[in-house]
Amino acid sequence: MSREIFAERLRVSMAQQGKKQVDLIRAASEHGVKLGKSHISQYVSGKTLPRPDILHFLADTLQVDADWLRGGDSGNGIHTVHTTNTVTGDRKMRTFKKSSKLDNVLYDVRGPVVDEAARMEESGTQILKLNIGNPAPFGFRTPDEVIYDMRQQLTECEGYSNAQGLFSARKAIMQYAQLKGIPNIAIEDIYTGNGVSELINICMSALLDDGDEILIPSPDYPLWTACATLAGGEAVHYICDEQSEWYPDIDDIRRKITDRTKAIVIINPNNPTGALYPKEVLQKIVDVAREHQLIIFSDEIYDRLVMDDEEHVSIASLAPDLFCITFSGLSKSHMIAGFRIGWMILSGNKKVAKDYIEGLKMLSNMRLCSNVPAQSIVQTALGGHQSVREYVEPGGRIREQRDYIYKTLTDIPGISAVKPKAAFYLFPKMDVKKFNITDDEQFALDLLRDKKILLIHGGGFNWKQPDHFRVVYLPRIEVLKEATGKIADFFSYYKQQL
Ligand SMILES: Cc1ncc(COP(=O)(O)O)c(C=O)c1O
Repeated sequence: MSREIFAERLRVSMAQQGKKQVDLIRAASEHGVKLGKSHISQYVSGKTLPRPDILHFLADTLQVDADWLRGGDSGNGIHTVHTTNTVTGDRKMRTFKKSSKLDNVLYDVRGPVVDEAARMEESGTQILKLNIGNPAPFGFRTPDEVIYDMRQQLTECEGYSNAQGLFSARKAIMQYAQLKGIPNIAIEDIYTGNGVSELINICMSALLDDGDEILIPSPDYPLWTACATLAGGEAVHYICDEQSEWYPDIDDIRRKITDRTKAIVIINPNNPTGALYPKEVLQKIVDVAREHQLIIFSDEIYDRLVMDDEEHVSIASLAPDLFCITFSGLSKSHMIAGFRIGWMILSGNKKVAKDYIEGLKMLSNMRLCSNVPAQSIVQTALGGHQSVREYVEPGGRIREQRDYIYKTLTDIPGISAVKPKAAFYLFPKMDVKKFNITDDEQFALDLLRDKKILLIHGGGFNWKQPDHFRVVYLPRIEVLKEATGKIADFFSYYKQQL
């Protein structure tokens, strides 16, 4: 091994990876490899050569071939396998890193604060969880008829179904969409999925090339940003304005459109804000989408959880000339999040999306089909009596709990909120000056450690300022009372210390 060639190749590889000597020292210490400052500077200047184990560590870290780095003719400067060899004593151990595709993916709804809560639970601490919108653990039971019908059909659901879903399920979804005024739909425009989650992933993977942009709300339901990023696209966040009932800021949307913008996502009713968009706001979004020829993705999973006698309008009903995909499912309205059933409806101008639709078909074929027992009860769930209405009418559980949490939290000095009109979330604002808050994740951790209450900080929803958090108000009022009492106490003394 020639010292000059090795040094030259080491410098080139470091430059290619954007790594400095200090980065290599840090990586070595993380992997338990002994590599000091003086060693690395001697390698870089060509004064000494590394031992074989160190050579392998450097090659792996810089993602180049070890033979090539050593100065050999074989191999090249590019590693294709994403693995790392570290050295423990004399024994080489191969370790596996996650794909770099995940580097910019954020999904804090189940992130570090949740991990800390899990650790605390393991050590015997009881945690009150106000962090995820999962109705069943809070006593919201699936309608009996749904369970009964699933039981009846179970033996007929043993095989795969059509990749897009059972005819009966898709027919029921199609009729539901027709009632909502969604134009130009047929059975082949309906796709069932293992929850809306799976379909979001499919839609983003099929659409986005590296660097393509998609407009996503801030705050958002973070799966949208995560899937767009994972697909190689760039999630460009437009602001939803708290001063205007959390409606999308149309000027901000306009400002953020570029030649690479392919689509806009709206979440209506919204998670995490609980906002419900009126027709006039939706019309403005349609106008912008029309002007710039954007696809509209509308996540409407909370469309049947609307309060205060308001009515939900599907944006696709206002855009017959545009290509729209509308998402919904039974996780929230029928309290069967665990059954995993959601759907998407392709509507409007499908001609412009012929090729994209082929991609959607390909990806749905690749996962064979969605959960068939869950598909079997879509018709039952969507037809007839809708038990969810009782929850959102005056005196209903969700409505009462909404009123309770809104009042008790906004009574706390330094906390304000827009009253939600739908779903089961509140997204309060904290007076960051009063509480000295500069890091909202730290706030969530402090609340967890002090009061054993788990909620998600605003940053988990791609909200850029450290001044919000989301509360799920699914627990019964007795539980909310205890929680809000503790939260009020926490804010009576909290001053963030970093
Ligand atoms: C806005 C939004 N979209 C999609 C989902 C995922 O729903 P599913 O259970 O159908 O995957 C959720 C779940 O919380 C949500 O809040």
